[in-house]
Amino acid sequence: MGDIETNQIESLDLKDSNQDPDFVDPWNVHTSSATGIDYAKLIVRFGSSSIDDALINRIETVTGKPVHHFLKRGIFFSHREMHRILDLYEQKKPFYLYTGRGPSADAMHLGHLVPFVFTKWLQDTFDVPLVIQMTDDEKYLWKDLTIDDLKRVALENVKDIIALGFDMEKTFIFCDFTYIGQCPAFYRTIVQIQKHVTFNQVKGIFGFGESDNIGKIAFPAVQAAPSFSSAFPHIFNGKPDLPCLIPCAIDQDPYFRMTRDVAPRLNLQKPALIHSIFFPSLQGATSKMSSSDPNSSIILTDTPAQIKNKINKYAFSGGRATVEEHREKGGNCDVDVSFQYLRFFLEDDEKLEKIRKDYSKGDLLTGHLKKELITLLQDIVGKIQERRKTVTDDIANQFMTPRKLKFDY
Ligand code: TRP
Repeated sequence: MGDIETNQIESLDLKDSNQDPDFVDPWNVHTSSATGIDYAKLIVRFGSSSIDDALINRIETVTGKPVHHFLKRGIFFSHREMHRILDLYEQKKPFYLYTGRGPSADAMHLGHLVPFVFTKWLQDTFDVPLVIQMTDDEKYLWKDLTIDDLKRVALENVKDIIALGFDMEKTFIFCDFTYIGQCPAFYRTIVQIQKHVTFNQVKGIFGFGESDNIGKIAFPAVQAAPSFSSAFPHIFNGKPDLPCLIPCAIDQDPYFRMTRDVAPRLNLQKPALIHSIFFPSLQGATSKMSSSDPNSSIILTDTPAQIKNKINKYAFSGGRATVEEHREKGGNCDVDVSFQYLRFFLEDDEKLEKIRKDYSKGDLLTGHLKKELITLLQDIVGKIQERRKTVTDDIANQFMTPRKLKFDY
């Protein structure tokens, strides 16, 4: 998810919606509404489909497994052509998963985990290959970092991702700077895309201007390329158009609108997509978390004491001004950050619903929610830290070696 916050972009999205408090593109997400982005409106504006009960039921039917709580709770809320992917799965036809991350020097925060946790669930549930793109080139073009620094930083990020439990036999992780030199087919796919997208089109989608460096203008083709299996001949035995499903946060959708647009011009299949909402900062849902402010988020290197302090000190409360008033009128779960974090990470549906009811009635105070959240996050972050210690350079390099995975094509 882009936390590149450098250039203010005037995209068409913004111009189309003068009254809209929300702004979303790959580099900027902001809203003036306390309950956060209006996602229903975003679906209309982006032209995607909402994830409804019928789709959720169908996923459970075809997989024979309960869906991830991210789906039940509307955290993954939007999609493009998920039914096509389920048709393929029913017919035992292949598809693969693609997601990615722009490496950043700061440790990954909880919000960064969301797409990866869900991607791992998809990989486990559907038993399919996964490619993970580390866009070190994107960060070089947009941020003030050297290529050498980015190489180091990307490796650290890759280890964080591996610590979430991805299966090496099913997962290929690559950094753009390295992979482009290892695999001519990747560069060929990129240039094929570049030939079929005009400057006017990327200007319309991303808002690039005359003074943006030309690397930025060409970059969307690099993020688009892994949507086509032609970019991974070692995994897909040279087959160029195996279908692809991309789990990502909704701010990445502009890249894939472009990709879906160009696919038929290359005689390739459009990638399907499944989109998540943003993870709120500790200060509240008015913005996505930023890695640059350590107090805006829980990061993967936080100690148990830091987790406790940050939540107690910064987590925005949906409670009332006084205990008396709170007991009488109840708290507001929609803006209470502790409740929102529990919604992302507390798996027990019944427990979450009881907390919601009791807090809304005023039987529970914000302090209770914070206590619940602190224990939960200390446990989750602690487990990731334990696994992270076992991820050596050697293991990371094995994930990043171009190779055949355990699937035959
Ligand atoms: N641009 C994304 C970021 O800044 C990284 C990325 C590359 C990505 N390919 C992707 C994200 C595919 C989701 C899906 O974080």
